[in-house]
Amino acid sequence: MTDPRITIRGNGPLKIDGDIPLLDHEENIIPTPEGRSYFLCRCGVSTKKPFCDGSHRDCEFDGALAPQED
Ligand code: FES
Repeated sequence: MTDPRITIRGNGPLKIDGDIPLLDHEENIIPTPEGRSYFLCRCGVSTKKPFCDGSHRDCEFDGALAPQED
């Protein structure tokens, strides 16, 4: 199993690796694929929220990050 981490994909979803619990707004656990990576929607268009369904490819999602200040 990969060390827990979240990777921001360019113009795409968040890739989740490792054992990181996913909770809804009421802190209920949302089941995730066991032992493998999964992807969370960042564009807001997915029909399977909170998971990515690939729709970001068709909606011209701009996932550029805001400049970081020190
Ligand atoms: S990031 Fe993939 S559907 Fe939203």
